[in-house]
Amino acid sequence: MSQVRRAKITALGTYVPPRVFTNKDFEKIVETSDEWILSRTGIRQRHVVDKGVATSDLAVEAAKIALAQRGIDPGEIEAIVVATVTPDMLFPSTACLVQHKLGAKRAWGFDLSAACSAFVYALQSGAQFIASGAHNKVLVIGADVMSSILDYTDRATCILFGDGAGAVVLEPAEGEGEGIIDFHHEVDGSGGCSLYMPAGGSLHPATHETVDKKMHFVHQDGQAVFKYAVKKMGEACEKVLARNAVSASDIDCFIPHQANQRIINATAERVGLRPESVIINIDRYGNTTAGTIPLAMQTAVEEGKLKKGDLVMLASVGAGFTVGATLLRWTM
Ligand code: UT7
Repeated sequence: MSQVRRAKITALGTYVPPRVFTNKDFEKIVETSDEWILSRTGIRQRHVVDKGVATSDLAVEAAKIALAQRGIDPGEIEAIVVATVTPDMLFPSTACLVQHKLGAKRAWGFDLSAACSAFVYALQSGAQFIASGAHNKVLVIGADVMSSILDYTDRATCILFGDGAGAVVLEPAEGEGEGIIDFHHEVDGSGGCSLYMPAGGSLHPATHETVDKKMHFVHQDGQAVFKYAVKKMGEACEKVLARNAVSASDIDCFIPHQANQRIINATAERVGLRPESVIINIDRYGNTTAGTIPLAMQTAVEEGKLKKGDLVMLASVGAGFTVGATLLRWTM
C-alpha cells in the first residue's frame, strides 16, 4: 500500500498593524458602548491600518517572519496561496503582489476567496500540492484589511472587525501521524445574502449610485450568521472527529475562527472540548477574517497551549456560507 504524503506546518508568522482602535474609540463615532461590544462579542480592541497600507503589506510582514523562523530564503518557496476577502485590488491577485514584494522568484500563486473560512481552505489547498508531490515548500497566508470595507456609521458591523495577517510554511511531513490529518469543508450558497459586499464586482460595478447606497461595505444579517455558525461549526468538528475516531477530549488545542466569543463557547460546549484547550484572542484583534486562525495559533504558542505533538482542531464558518474543520498534529 502506498504511503500518503502529508503536509505539515513548519513555520508561523503573524502581523497586525500598530494602530489600536478600542471599544471606547467606537463610543465616540457610533451609538454603542464598551459594555455592549464586550458582552455581545468578546471584543475589547482591534488593530487597524493607516491610510495607504494594504492587505499585501500585512501579508508580506507575516510571511517574512515565518520564512525567517524556518531559515528559508524567499527563492525556495514554490507556491503562494493568499486567503483574503480584501485583496489590494481585484487584479492582479494579492498573491502576485506578495510574490514580488517578497522576491519569491520561483513561486507561482493565487488568491482564495472564502471569507472567514479562507485560511482553512487555503491551508488544505496548499497541503494538496505537498500531498501530490508537486511542491515541497508552500506559503499559505491569511490576510485582511477589513477596515477598508467597513461602514463606520453602521454600529452593527463596524465594531466587529479588525486588520491582521498570518502566514504558515507547509512542507512534507516525515513521521507517521504528523501534520495535516484530515478536513471537512462545506459551502451553502443559499446563505450568500446573509453576509456580503454587494458592489464592486461584475453584478454591480462601481458607480456613483453604488457608492451613495453604501454598497461597497460589509452587509450582514448578524442573527442569521450567528445561528448558522453555532450549528455548523460544531457539526463540522464532530464530523472530522468521528471520521478519525478521535474524541473531543483528545484535542489538545482547539483553534476556532474568531467572530464572536459566544459562537466559540457554544461550539466548544456542544462538541465537548476541554475549556482549557480553546484558544480565544478576539478580545485583542476582533474578527480579522482570513487572519484569525493563524493569529490564534500564535496566541496559543505564546500562551504555552500549543506544543510539539499536540492534536489540534481548526474550525471556521463564514460568508458564503463557508464551513471548515481541520485536524492536524502540530510539529513545531
Ligand atoms: O466571521 C464572519 C461571520 N460573522 C459572524 O459570525 C457574526 C455573527 N453574528 C454576531 O456575532 C451577532 O449577531 C452580532 C454581534 C453581530 C450582534 O449580536 P446580537 O446579539 O445578535 O444582536 P442583535 O443583532 O440581535 O441586536 C440586538 C440589539 C439591536 O437593538 P434592538 O433592535 O434590540 O433595539 C441592535 O440595534 O443591539 C443593537 N445593536 C447595538 N447596540 C449597541 C447592534 N449593534 C450594536 C452596537 N452597540 N454596536
